[in-house]
Amino acid sequence: MKDAIYFDHAATTPVNLLVSQIMTEVLTQNFGNPSSIHQFGRRAHKLLTDARSTVAESFQVKNSEIIFTSGGTEGDNAAIIGVALRNQAKGKHLITTAIEHPAVLLTMKYLEKQFGFEVNYLPVDKKGNLSVEVFKQALREDTILVSVMFVNNETGNLLPIQEIGEILRDHQAVFHTDAVQAVGLLQINPRELGVDLLSASAHKFNGPKGVGFLYKKAGLSFMPFFYGGKQEGRFRAGTENLAGIVGLQKMIEILNQDEKKQCLKTYQAFCNLLLKRLDEAKVKYYLNGDFNNKLPNILNLHLENVASNLALIKLDLKGFAISIGSACASGDVNDSHVLTAMYGKEHPALKESLRISFGEGNTKKQVERLADELIVLSRTNKEE
Ligand SMILES: Cc1ncc(COP(=O)(O)O)c(C=O)c1O
Repeated sequence: MKDAIYFDHAATTPVNLLVSQIMTEVLTQNFGNPSSIHQFGRRAHKLLTDARSTVAESFQVKNSEIIFTSGGTEGDNAAIIGVALRNQAKGKHLITTAIEHPAVLLTMKYLEKQFGFEVNYLPVDKKGNLSVEVFKQALREDTILVSVMFVNNETGNLLPIQEIGEILRDHQAVFHTDAVQAVGLLQINPRELGVDLLSASAHKFNGPKGVGFLYKKAGLSFMPFFYGGKQEGRFRAGTENLAGIVGLQKMIEILNQDEKKQCLKTYQAFCNLLLKRLDEAKVKYYLNGDFNNKLPNILNLHLENVASNLALIKLDLKGFAISIGSACASGDVNDSHVLTAMYGKEHPALKESLRISFGEGNTKKQVERLADELIVLSRTNKEE
């Protein structure tokens, strides 16, 4: 593990040291239940309130609009099921995209199967982009919910959130975005974007696993996902994961200090460096995604004639952690649903693509070493 090089930050990230320190402090010293009346409880409640304020301020929303959750999957499920079940009298039509994370796609399938909702899974083009025109054509009077991700977790592509938010301003449909791959890298103001619900997860931006939040616009009607205690404005019953929440808060504070998002510049430089090396070695590759419409932390490459499942193992043996598509798909034999949506079922990219995702701690030297390994891989595969 010591010498292993981690390039799978879109799957999860290491916890920042300052975050782990503050979490240990909460776990051992401020362990009270925020609902308890005594001083332990009051102290815990204050930490919870402060964390909520930090998150709310960072997204320029009200404290009451932040619901702490167990992460992205819960946020997506809660938002989609909560809105669909609450608003079904107004219509049973939902819109999403074919390239969402399974936390959204399978939730939509559940609503279709169990409750008779009708769902449009919008297609994307060969670069993985969603056309606003395609969205407009799918929108109907009886659409009650639109769920479109902010950034795709396999390609890094940005989706047209602002444009969709604009179109939906005069429409009954609630707008949810899965911003799990965007929070931590982009400054987001849900109100300006016309977003009603936004889900985020701390472990994607150097916070702990098992904690996240759902932004829910004030006044938005929504069926709670969990029933029990009165926590989180009665929208999310259950004793709060205070250490996780304080860890999430700390990481947001750290990220807010980097206003110019230097990390994005660094990741762009990593992309350029890696591709330059591949070009110099005349490796045949194609980018899965759109260079002009993506975040630079994710680089999804189709390496011609390089079997991705074998490449993943060979790279792992050499100490490089990368992935084929999303983390959930990597233990899976199925082809990436994102690449399938982009190219169709028969395209070689489905079996020859690797996702490299940069994060805190990666260096130029590590990127150069990875590029060299990719060059070796592409040559060996040709010879085999
Ligand atoms: C876009 C997207 N949405 C949702 C999730 C699920 O988040 P979590 O792991 O916090 O449940 C992920 C994680 O891979 C993701 O990338």
